Amino acid sequence: MIAHRLLHPQMVVLVTSALPEEKYNVMTAAWCMPASFNPPLAVVSISPLRYTHEIISKTGEFVINIPGVELLDVVKYCGSVSGRNVDKFEKTGITPIRGKKVKAPIIKECIAALECIVERSVNAGDHTLFIGRIADYWTREGVFKDAYTMRFRPLLHLGGERYCTIQEI
Ligand SMILES: Cc1cc2nc3c(=O)[nH]c(=O)nc-3n(C[C@H](O)[C@H](O)[C@H](O)COP(=O)(O)O)c2cc1C
Repeated sequence: MIAHRLLHPQMVVLVTSALPEEKYNVMTAAWCMPASFNPPLAVVSISPLRYTHEIISKTGEFVINIPGVELLDVVKYCGSVSGRNVDKFEKTGITPIRGKKVKAPIIKECIAALECIVERSVNAGDHTLFIGRIADYWTREGVFKDAYTMRFRPLLHLGGERYCTIQEI
């Protein structure tokens, strides 16, 4: 048992980033959380080994995309190969759409997306915490009945190769 696994399951997200000329990248992340209501902040924890780390450090922007369970294969792929070597949008067939406030794309097949502008980055051991101000957000029509009632099944990471979803009780 790795100690970190005690903090799982964690919701899986797809973090997108963009270089000039609409060169997009996407990576899977399970270490992501809301951090402040006012101002609205969210945090992603990303290793400096990731291409995404290099892009966010350069551009100061990223989007947190929320996939449903149907995107499991995309999540696995985007969490196992680097955008340094392949175009993961092309390989997976997911569709980038323009957000309102940042150049990083929203993934059309996702349920929701948070457009973030980096306020601060903090070294945290072998990862960096990118603290992002949520400049805008998007949800697919009909997926939320209200702020708490979801009509989709989110993907949660248990650790290793294992995933689950949730059921309201
Ligand atoms: C379920 C899952 C969760 C992951 N969570 C993170 C994470 O929170 N932070 C991180 O740095 N890498 C995480 N990874 C690893 C990256 O997604 C992976 O190294 C990816 O290939 C990096 O892509 P890039 O080099 O194109 O940025 C995770 C992978 C998986 C499969």
